Amino acid sequence: MSKRVLIAYFSHGGENLIDDQIVDLQGKGITKTVATTLQGKLEEKSIKANLFQIEPLIPYPTAYDQTLARSKDEYESGAAPLINDGPNGFEAYDVVFLGYPNWWGTIPAPILSFLRDHDMQGKTIVPFVTHGGQIFLYSLETIQKEAPNAAFAKGFAVAAPYVSAAPAVIDEWLGQNESLLQ
Ligand SMILES: Cc1cc2nc3c(=O)[nH]c(=O)nc-3n(C[C@H](O)[C@H](O)[C@H](O)COP(=O)(O)O)c2cc1C
Repeated sequence: MSKRVLIAYFSHGGENLIDDQIVDLQGKGITKTVATTLQGKLEEKSIKANLFQIEPLIPYPTAYDQTLARSKDEYESGAAPLINDGPNGFEAYDVVFLGYPNWWGTIPAPILSFLRDHDMQGKTIVPFVTHGGQIFLYSLETIQKEAPNAAFAKGFAVAAPYVSAAPAVIDEWLGQNESLLQ
C-alpha cells in the first residue's frame, strides 16, 4: 500500500523582498506555490497528497518591514504563536512534507508551533524550504530538535526569485526519493 502523504506548509504571501525589490505576493506566497506544485507532481504519479496551510491565529501584516519586526521578536524570544487546528486525521499520515520560508536563518515561528502541536512519532518528515539565498541553514537542526521521534528524509530547496524552477527541483527530488512514498 502506498504511504499516506501530507504537505503541511507555512507561507507569508504578503510583501517580500525578491531580487532587491519589494513585491506584494497577494496571498500567493512562494512556499504556497511550491507546495501546490508538489501536490500536482505527486498527482501525476498517482500519489495522493493532502495540502494543509499552517496559519497563525494572528496573521502577519502584509507590510514587509512589519513582518520582519514581528518575526525578529519571535525568533529572538523563541515564541510559538497560536496556530489553526491541524489537519483532520493527522495520526494516519506516514510522510509529512513540511514546507516553510527561511526566516532569520531558521523555521518561521508557526512551524515551531505546528511541531509542538503534533506528535511526529513514526512519521517521516521531508523538509522543503524557500529562501532568499540561504537554503536550510539552521532550520533542519531546529526541526530535528522539536521532532526527535520522527525519521528525516533529505528535502529540497527553491530560491524565491527562481520559483519557476520548482517543477524541475521536485522532479529531481522524486527521481531520487520516490520510493519513500511507496
Ligand atoms: C521575515 C523574513 C525573514 C527572512 N529571512 C531570510 C533569511 O534569513 N534568509 C534567506 O535566505 N531568506 C530570508 N527571507 C526570504 C524568504 O525566505 C523568501 O522570500 C521565501 O521564499 C518567502 O516565502 P513565502 O512567500 O512563502 O513566505 C526572509 C523573508 C522574510 C519575510
